[in-house]
Amino acid sequence: MTSVNDIRSTFLDYFAKNGHEKVASSPLVPRNDPTLMFTNAGMVQFKNVFTGLEKRPYTRATTSQKSVRAGGKHNDLDNVGYTARHLTFFEMLGNFSFGDYFKETAIELAWNLVTKEFGLDASKLLVTVYHTDDEAASYWKKIAGFSDDRIIRIPTSDNFWSMGDTGPCGPCSEIFIDRGEHIWGGPPGSPDEDGDRFLEFWNLVFMQYDQQPNGERLALPRPSIDTGMGLERMASILQGVESVFETDLFRHLIDTAASVVGKAPTRETVASYRVIADHLRSMSFLVADGVLPSNEGRGYVLRRIMRRAMRHATLLGTNQPTIFKLVPMLVREMGQAYPELVRGEAMIAETIRLEEERFLKTLGRGLQILEEETSGLAEGDTLAGETAFRLYDTYGFPLDLTQDALRARGIGVDQSGFDAAMARQKAEARKSWSGSGDAATSAVWFSVADSVGATEFLGYDAEESDGAVVALVKDGAQVEALNAGDEGFIVLNQTPFYAESGGQIGDTGTMSGEGVEIEVLDTTKHAGGVFAHNVKVVSGVLQLSVPLTLKVDHRRRQAIRANHSATHLLHEALRQVLGTHVAQKGSMVGPDRLRFDFSHTKPIAPEELVEVERLANAVVLQNAPVETRLMAVDDAVAAGAMALFGEKYGDEVRVVSMGIASEGEKAGKVYSMELCGGTHVRRTGEIGLVTVVQETSVAAGVRRVEALTADGARRYLSEQDAQLRAVAAALKATPRDALARVEALVEERRQLERQLAEARQKLAMGGGSGGEASASESVNGVTFMGRVVAGLQPKDLRGLVDQGKKQIGSGVVVIVGTTEDGKAGIAVGVSEDLTGKVSAVDLVRVGSAALGGQGGGGRPDMAQAGGPDGSKADEAVAAIRTALAS
Ligand code: ALA
Repeated sequence: MTSVNDIRSTFLDYFAKNGHEKVASSPLVPRNDPTLMFTNAGMVQFKNVFTGLEKRPYTRATTSQKSVRAGGKHNDLDNVGYTARHLTFFEMLGNFSFGDYFKETAIELAWNLVTKEFGLDASKLLVTVYHTDDEAASYWKKIAGFSDDRIIRIPTSDNFWSMGDTGPCGPCSEIFIDRGEHIWGGPPGSPDEDGDRFLEFWNLVFMQYDQQPNGERLALPRPSIDTGMGLERMASILQGVESVFETDLFRHLIDTAASVVGKAPTRETVASYRVIADHLRSMSFLVADGVLPSNEGRGYVLRRIMRRAMRHATLLGTNQPTIFKLVPMLVREMGQAYPELVRGEAMIAETIRLEEERFLKTLGRGLQILEEETSGLAEGDTLAGETAFRLYDTYGFPLDLTQDALRARGIGVDQSGFDAAMARQKAEARKSWSGSGDAATSAVWFSVADSVGATEFLGYDAEESDGAVVALVKDGAQVEALNAGDEGFIVLNQTPFYAESGGQIGDTGTMSGEGVEIEVLDTTKHAGGVFAHNVKVVSGVLQLSVPLTLKVDHRRRQAIRANHSATHLLHEALRQVLGTHVAQKGSMVGPDRLRFDFSHTKPIAPEELVEVERLANAVVLQNAPVETRLMAVDDAVAAGAMALFGEKYGDEVRVVSMGIASEGEKAGKVYSMELCGGTHVRRTGEIGLVTVVQETSVAAGVRRVEALTADGARRYLSEQDAQLRAVAAALKATPRDALARVEALVEERRQLERQLAEARQKLAMGGGSGGEASASESVNGVTFMGRVVAGLQPKDLRGLVDQGKKQIGSGVVVIVGTTEDGKAGIAVGVSEDLTGKVSAVDLVRVGSAALGGQGGGGRPDMAQAGGPDGSKADEAVAAIRTALAS
């Protein structure tokens, strides 16, 4: 038997042999196309190559592209499980020519592969062509030898392929196989074409146009080829089974599901097994590519797929999480071709389990209500939209799940009633915003949130993508356009720009579109999930709904990532060194540094800081992968993840883990595990180096460390080193001896200062240095000695006054000392015998006033004061002399 894996490699090898480059599948979330929900065909990654915008080093390519057709232009969700061929996830095998070969070679290559390599019976094959495409018809005649009745001309869009409402498109030709009369169905174009007898398995698109948003079709620079073969359908043909679900891969998945459920599939239950097998693949691949279940956009389509599968699991009698148990089997089957499944296995299983747990809580009650509400309904009746909305709103039933549940009984759902109930609820919610007193600027974000919903963040995996402009805001109001020179805000349907939160600064970068260049100054988040890009329009005019190419400033983001991951490493290191009372009190992660505030009552000792740096850098050196998982908050905390106390988290959180602790209590276990929505390095080695540059106090019981990483840390340390070398050179010492040399110099200076002070005092008291004051004189019958001494500290004043008093025996001594910074101190001494007549306190006040100061104090025999103006020292002495004379 030819397995799915064999067919994939036969196809790719065949085209490689024919000069085609083997190119890897692109992710399911298209980065280069904001109009597309999921990658739904092999050509998506080549869209810009077809239109000539992008150049590749090859003109022929072949791929096996993972594709999802759910919730977009190509939506097969509702059919899955009920037909033999519809899948939400499938692999599309394709060959592409970018202006190289065209129709004839494409048909020839296809025909040879199908009839020679795959050995299909030519007599069972037939094709369709677009009704006006005589050229394609003639090649089929020539190459395959088909008669006219096996070349069916189709006049509808079925044979004119386009990826979405805009983009490359062209007429196509599809290859069908007739699987025999025993299966119901008619050839394409006939009334019974929806049956499974005639199976389309390969679509050859002759790409010729680029569909514009205004409806115009521009010619591509050169005609090109895009083909798509459903791998699963080809497998069903080559393995001789009627449905894709009977091929080897699906049999293995269904067998595993049956053994987990504990019941073999029966005619009644087989559809449920098929839904589970198909949906397991879509949900696993979507989660692996970064989509998480939510109530918006892509996340909501994923949630619908998951919940539809979960309801089918309960139809099989399960009441516990079940689907997540099938992930290892899927990874075994498909992990070799798609290594992202292997890398994401734990995250995928956990995300599914979490969603199963969450939904199982309300599923039973919801189904019961559905049962009650429909018990009186018969085939052909309709369930009230209001009830369907209640199931959605309260029990988490997506509309299509309710429809699916009623399908077997032939009961429909009033969709317009459902939509009306939804609109009513939104209006109610809006009412509660107005009147809340919010400023106009925040009101505008609520109304943007209401009309366009949350922005999809692509920035965990990408720094560049396209996005469609869904709202523009200027001066607190929504506008239709932003003109050159305008500053305002852009909201897009999706973005790689991180919006400031959790301490991490918002991204900056550029956006560009046709004729418009934009600078992104900052990104912030509003009303729960609207990403507002604060921009300046550099040139051109920006209109609503145009697509833009978005580029985050890569170097800045890279630096931010390193700083954010380093914050986690330091947090854990601080806990290990200082104790587990250390809890995060705040943080700021920017491109140039990180700041981390935490509870701790005393300064960190230098040796503790060295230890903190050592522990953090040990994990950097591990170059350990940084792993992110989505978990329920309670589970995350139970697993030991650090959460911010008092922080409000949603039901589910991202948990970021890094490194293995090599010592201490946690030795051998995960080093750091934190709840965190920020962006991180892929491996800790990218942090390069963590170095703490400052440790300070910010509030009672809260310390702050500031640190640098990567190039910032390297530059800082090399500047420090250069400075140390310069210091050593100036000291004529080696860097190693510099400290001892400085200590010796400081000691020497202290001694010199002491000697200098002594010398000055001696000089002063010996007379002659004090300007007007020389030796003692007699004023009003009292011996008066007044001196001004430069470079004297206030603490030395008293000693000099005492010396003076000793010299003169009885009298008044005034010493004014001026300091290097231009201020002055003054001390007055009065000998015991005179304290009844003269008060040192009164005199010192007079002196202080002359120095521009006020006050002063002491005792009648000794008082001291200061003054800001040292240049008035002589005046101070004179003023006291005068006071004494009067
Ligand atoms: N892009 C074409 C398709 O998806 C081949 O059918």
